[in-house]
Parts: sequence; C-alpha cells; structure tokens
Amino acid sequence: MADLDDIRDGNDFGIGIPPANQSFYIKGHDHMGWGLKNRMANMFNKKSGNSVMLAFDHGFLMGPTSGLERIDLNILPLAPYVDVMMGCKGMLRSTLPPECETPIAVRADAGTTILTEMNNNVLMDVNEALAMNAQCMAIMLAIGCPSYEASTVRNLYTLVDKANPLGMPVMGITAVGKDMARDARYFGMAARVAAENGANIVKTYYAEGFEKVVAGCPVPVVIAGGKKLPEPNALELCYKAIQCGAVGVDMGRNIFQSEDPAAMAQAVAGVVHDGLTPAEGMEKFNDLKRK
Ligand code: 5RP
Repeated sequence: MADLDDIRDGNDFGIGIPPANQSFYIKGHDHMGWGLKNRMANMFNKKSGNSVMLAFDHGFLMGPTSGLERIDLNILPLAPYVDVMMGCKGMLRSTLPPECETPIAVRADAGTTILTEMNNNVLMDVNEALAMNAQCMAIMLAIGCPSYEASTVRNLYTLVDKANPLGMPVMGITAVGKDMARDARYFGMAARVAAENGANIVKTYYAEGFEKVVAGCPVPVVIAGGKKLPEPNALELCYKAIQCGAVGVDMGRNIFQSEDPAAMAQAVAGVVHDGLTPAEGMEKFNDLKRK
C-alpha cells in the first residue's frame, strides 16, 4: 500500500533541459523498433517535430454532434491541412477514401455513450488497425475515476503489450470527469501514469503550469482542445501549450465547430508548426476566411 500520508509533489523537473542522449527526433523513442518509429515519424512533422491531429471521434460517445453531421462533407476537406486524421474505425473506413494521403489514427476503445455510464470500454484488435494502415491506436484513461480507473489502465496496458511489438504506437487520452480537478497536478499525474504504462503519446488538456506536465512525461504530449472557444482563445491555448513543450494538438471542436474550419485548421498549424503567435494565427485565420 502506498504511503498516502506522505506523497510529496515533484518540484525538480529540469524545465528547459532537453531529454538526455536523444538521437531520434521524437521524445522517448530512441530505443523503439523501426516500424514503430516509422509510424511516429509519419505523424510528427520532421521539421517542426510537431503534429496537428484532427480529432473527430466524438460521435462514438454522442452521435452526430455539431460539425460532425457529415464526415464526408465537414471533415474530409480538412485532411490536406492536418498531419493526422483521428477517428473511429467505422467512420474512417466508411467516409475516408483509401486515396486519402493524410495518415490516420484510430480510436481503439469503445463501449458506452453519454446516455449511460461512460468509459466501460473494450479494445479494438491490433490486427484490424494494422489492416487499416493506422499509424496509431488511441484509447482513453479515466485516472481518478473510482468506477473505471482500473479497467481503463488495464486497457492501456493490454493494448501496449499487443500493439508495440507489432510496430503500432498507442496514444493514451486523459479523460476529464465531471468531479475531477483540471489542474497541472492532476494532468501531470495522469500523463505520467499513461507513460509509465507504456503510452507512446499522451493526449491531455492544457492547464497553468503545463511545463511540469510535459517535463514529467518522457514521451510526446499533445493537447485536446476541449469545448469550443472563440478562435483567438483557441489559438492562445495552442500557443501556450507549445511554449510549455507540448508537441502539438489532437483537436476537435475548436477546429470543426469553427466558423471556418479549414481556415482554423491552417491557423492552428501555423501556431503548432511555424511558431506563429496567437495574434499572427488570427491574422492567418482572417486572411484565409476572407478567401
Ligand atoms: C474524446 C476525445 C476527443 O478526441 C478529444 O476530446 C478531442 O476533441 P476536443 O478537442 O473536441 O476536446 O478524446 O474522448
């Protein structure tokens, strides 16, 4: 049993000091196999080291929510502007043409929807993801949730064991529950638990003090966008996360629910890859929107 009365918060994260002895450009992956590194390199831009992943997996929880009514009409046109298309297997197969050149990441756990108790999820087979030519499998972790913490950690652990030896990376997604704290301490713990259990990429949410979340996590961290924000705020969120060491976004609503999703995808890419400030990102958004 852990000594719960003497848990000391870490405070020596070596912020700003790069990981030691790293030759491959993706954090924590020097010692992985060729196939897994190749898949990672297909998702993370070689020049910036970063990635804009477009998340459109929301339908498996909530059906055809705003911006996702028609994946073929709303989401497919955004493919040229992002590095990864991240969705559920049924939507990827039925609506993305096989000629699509943008790599795919597949949401690999499913089970329950917003109509019942969420997170009671089962896993997709790795062979199916390999057959789809997915570059990554993504599953959710409910850290701190009394009902589903154990089963979701087991899902991650099991999937890493099955996927990594076949060259398939796994992204661990930090879930945020209604009653859970949304601060860097919580996200830092959840991100670290995901990495400790073998996640190759951690997706979490931005919070003040995010540099500690990133520094304490030995693999790449990307952020989800969360609820739709006004475009300047969403770009600021991306900018702050990148400044803190995140290597990109796996963003949904703040792109596909934007008044101009294609312009927003390109503005986000400007911040993530080209170092644009939020104001410069907004300028890009407005220029593209006018066209
Ligand atoms: C849900 C997810 C979503 O992909 C994630 O929330 C990203 O979307 P958004 O930017 O809209 O929050 O993982 O489990």
